Amino acid sequence: MSTILSSAKGWPSILLARAGASKPADLDDAIKAGAFEALRRSVRELGPEGTIAEVKASGLRGRGGAGHLTAAKWQAAAETPAKERYVVANGYGADPATSTDRTLLETDPYAVIEGVAIAAFTIGAETGYISVRASATQAIKGLETAIEAATARNFIGEDALGSGRRVEIEVRPVQGAYMLGEETVLLKALDGKRGQPEQRPPHPATRGFHGAPTVVQNVQTLASVPWIIRHHAKAFGAIGFGAAPGTILVDVRGPERSGVAEVPMGTPLEAIVELGGRFAKGRSLKAVVVGGPTGGILPPSELKTPYTFDDLRSVGAHIGSGSVIAADDRACVVDVARLLTRFSADEACGKTIPCRIGVRRIAEIGERLTTGTSRAGDLDLLVDLSADVVGSALCDHERLATLPMLSGLRYFRDELDAHLLRGECPAGVCRPIRLGATA
Ligand SMILES: Cc1cc2nc3c(=O)[nH]c(=O)nc-3n(C[C@H](O)[C@H](O)[C@H](O)COP(=O)(O)O)c2cc1C
Ligand code: SF4
Repeated sequence: MSTILSSAKGWPSILLARAGASKPADLDDAIKAGAFEALRRSVRELGPEGTIAEVKASGLRGRGGAGHLTAAKWQAAAETPAKERYVVANGYGADPATSTDRTLLETDPYAVIEGVAIAAFTIGAETGYISVRASATQAIKGLETAIEAATARNFIGEDALGSGRRVEIEVRPVQGAYMLGEETVLLKALDGKRGQPEQRPPHPATRGFHGAPTVVQNVQTLASVPWIIRHHAKAFGAIGFGAAPGTILVDVRGPERSGVAEVPMGTPLEAIVELGGRFAKGRSLKAVVVGGPTGGILPPSELKTPYTFDDLRSVGAHIGSGSVIAADDRACVVDVARLLTRFSADEACGKTIPCRIGVRRIAEIGERLTTGTSRAGDLDLLVDLSADVVGSALCDHERLATLPMLSGLRYFRDELDAHLLRGECPAGVCRPIRLGATA
């Protein structure tokens, strides 16, 4: 299990509030800590319409990266005429270096199970799947134990909560590359098929697993729902920041500490970076990589940015996998951007040409910059290519894959120019090109 970093005193906790008190093997402890209270309220008091209204009033947005409104998906799935419907909890964790979702699954499986059950009751689904990376064996074992215990106590199962409704939940280990986290690929993997992203619309909420309405939701999103129903939408809205209420898990890599922490949405990036500790004497923060492999590379001048979907997007980054990595003055931003873009080019599924070719060409620009083989006009080409790639493909990957190089260009132009115009790497990382005067 990843280290859980303690957040600042006074920061509210939703997702990790029961860490340690919700062990899979001890449902009684989890119940004492509030597990399944919200499911009871949702089924016996609120009903589907009341539950959707509460989730809508909370303003909950998906934690899987894009920040779509959760209630809108539930409503679409509930209103689409169908014989069967499904709920899929996305716990795949596409970024192999980030363990936010796995940490949640390991520390409070009952919150995710309860979230899936509430969603299933609400949209009229009989089956919910919790998809987890097959290598996350501790999370899988814990979920299986917890599902068995919750079924034995009739919270889920044949006649769940005596409602006359059947709600079965299954853990589905899946294994694949980065793209498997994308919702339409995940749905195919759940069916045992290889997949590439599908054109949308139709969105899975209206036409998903086996062609049926399917709510695909990140595990943090689902685990937030029981808290919302227990404490009411208003309390959730009071945490966080304007259009981004609630909390989120971040995976912080800092000079002194690395681990997973829960932070209120809207927390300034600076406070998140500080969770990773201070740099040793003589070292300083040069850049923060925010969002994982397709993240933006931000300079210290952007540290006041609130950690929200919209604010990060406006500065050229995104929440993505929840990863926040602090890089010190020894890092070469061009090399970091090159590395991340190469990852994106290699992971692109190849279904759409602008992404398949364009991201590869962008990665090559990075590779030329870091090996002293740049061509005049490479930075203009980077801007042109990025504009062509963005918005022309089937999934968000193509837009996000341009962020490392574009944010490098936006904030570290001098460093890119040093590589391009003088064949120098000021940080002394890229060889065989010469070191710059500051090295
Ligand atoms: C390349 C790619 C990888 C993704 N990986 C994940 C992932 O690992 N986990 C996740 O929850 N969402 C991931 N997403 C987003 C999902 O497609 C989907 O939007 C999300 O699971 C919906 O849940 P939410 O509304 O609760 O965020 C990925 C998207 C893309 C384009
Ligand atoms: S944008 Fe890229 S990753 Fe997404 S479907 Fe097209 S080729 Fe595949």
